[in-house]
Amino acid sequence: MSANKTLIAYESKGGATEEASRKIAETLRSKFQLEVDLVDLKEQKPSDLAQYQNVILGGGVRAGKIYCKTLKFLENDLTGKKVAFFVSSAEAGAPGSYEKAKIKFVENTLAKYPNINPVGWDAFGGRIRILGKTVSDNTDLAKVEAWAEELGKKFTQ
Ligand SMILES: Cc1cc2nc3c(=O)[nH]c(=O)nc-3n(C[C@H](O)[C@H](O)[C@H](O)COP(=O)(O)O)c2cc1C
Repeated sequence: MSANKTLIAYESKGGATEEASRKIAETLRSKFQLEVDLVDLKEQKPSDLAQYQNVILGGGVRAGKIYCKTLKFLENDLTGKKVAFFVSSAEAGAPGSYEKAKIKFVENTLAKYPNINPVGWDAFGGRIRILGKTVSDNTDLAKVEAWAEELGKKFTQ
């Protein structure tokens, strides 16, 4: 196992989770000099998870459900790894529904996987596009970057 390698696995349909994942990767690489693999779960199933000490998983939410491949990934054996989990969701980007979205989508999901000992979890805003037109956008890459910095500290301590 090489030293302190990080996997970011994400599933995105509208692009918000992908942008957040890229921001997290850029932050961990530039500010913490971590080696990071970024994997799009729609294209690739990450193999050889044994090589990673740190795993960040991100997925979007539609119709009240986290995307399938994201949930499937949680079935991997992540015992002993520093795991972080986030979702992108319109509800999470609105101040009045953020806390509820975080509990509903993130904390209640993680509670189903007692073998996972998460070091970070959050819910970020998302973006809705209909017929190529953005009808709502509450993404916040500054918030994502701040979260990545907290993770970077935990991954390097
Ligand atoms: C068809 C559709 C259904 C959605 N349903 C929900 C929902 O139930 N709850 C929510 O918080 N956001 C919902 N959203 C907003 C998405 O969470 C948002 O588009 C987010 O950016 C999805 O992540 P992605 O861009 O990485 O695919 C929905 C968006 C679409 C297009």
